[in-house]
Amino acid sequence: MKTIETVAEMMSLAKSWRREGKTVGLVPTMGYLHQGHLSLAAAARLDCDIVVMSIFVNPTQFGPNEDYEAYPRDLGHDQALAEGAGVDYLFAPQPADMYPKGYSTFVNVEGVTDYLCGAKRPGHFRGVATVVSKLFHIVQPEKAYFGQKDGQQVAVLRRMVRDLNMPVEIIARPIVREADGVALSSRNVYLTEEQRQQAVVLSQGLAKARELFVQGERNGNVLKKAVTDTIQTAPLANIDYVQLVDGDTMAPIQQITGTAMLAVAVYFGETRLIDNTLLEVESE
Ligand code: PAF
Repeated sequence: MKTIETVAEMMSLAKSWRREGKTVGLVPTMGYLHQGHLSLAAAARLDCDIVVMSIFVNPTQFGPNEDYEAYPRDLGHDQALAEGAGVDYLFAPQPADMYPKGYSTFVNVEGVTDYLCGAKRPGHFRGVATVVSKLFHIVQPEKAYFGQKDGQQVAVLRRMVRDLNMPVEIIARPIVREADGVALSSRNVYLTEEQRQQAVVLSQGLAKARELFVQGERNGNVLKKAVTDTIQTAPLANIDYVQLVDGDTMAPIQQITGTAMLAVAVYFGETRLIDNTLLEVESE
């Protein structure tokens, strides 16, 4: 595995792969890799001739009071894990190379960003869409792999590639969980032992709602209440949102008739965790 540190070198490699007709898969990450990221690399490895993983803590997707500076970073560890997962190239550019002085172009995906994390973290998805567009231009992948844990991010990026005719297939892979159900996240390292133990209520609440859904429940309020009641059993949990939304538009819905996403964001102290489950009613 080779680590590429400049945009210029990455672009020149991408150009040569294109000429050779190679299929390129991109796994965009902010590093501090865990099994969730590695499952994306494994999927890319099966599909593509060349697997590129990017590691870039993207400053434009963090709000002024968010954890950009504190976000965990460990390139050496990431290099070992990525190599073990079959990544061919690790692209780890510097912020000044991605956003040089005078940088002023941003990608704004409307509508689908009005809800959930888009409403709670203004500007977040503008930063995500901008950096992912840049990565698509730099690496020129046929396929790009994202975790379903960031379900709204997947919906935003699907909308972006559709609207801007980007020739990239967005592939969403299932959430990878710890043995007790907690979704893997680089931010889990912020949790104290007590918070980490209580964080299990997110997945437990979603699992209860899913059980009701499997038994035939389609009403949003009933499903959301099952999640909220469970989360509220954890004294350290502070709910940011529990929402049932349309799986495509992310707009809140009352009743499930097609594909829905039941999504939660919960604070434990300063740490904000998200999780979700997709609930699908087969069309007749
Ligand atoms: O999901 C993430 O880690 C980031 O939002 C992404 C897609 C790498 C963009 O910075």
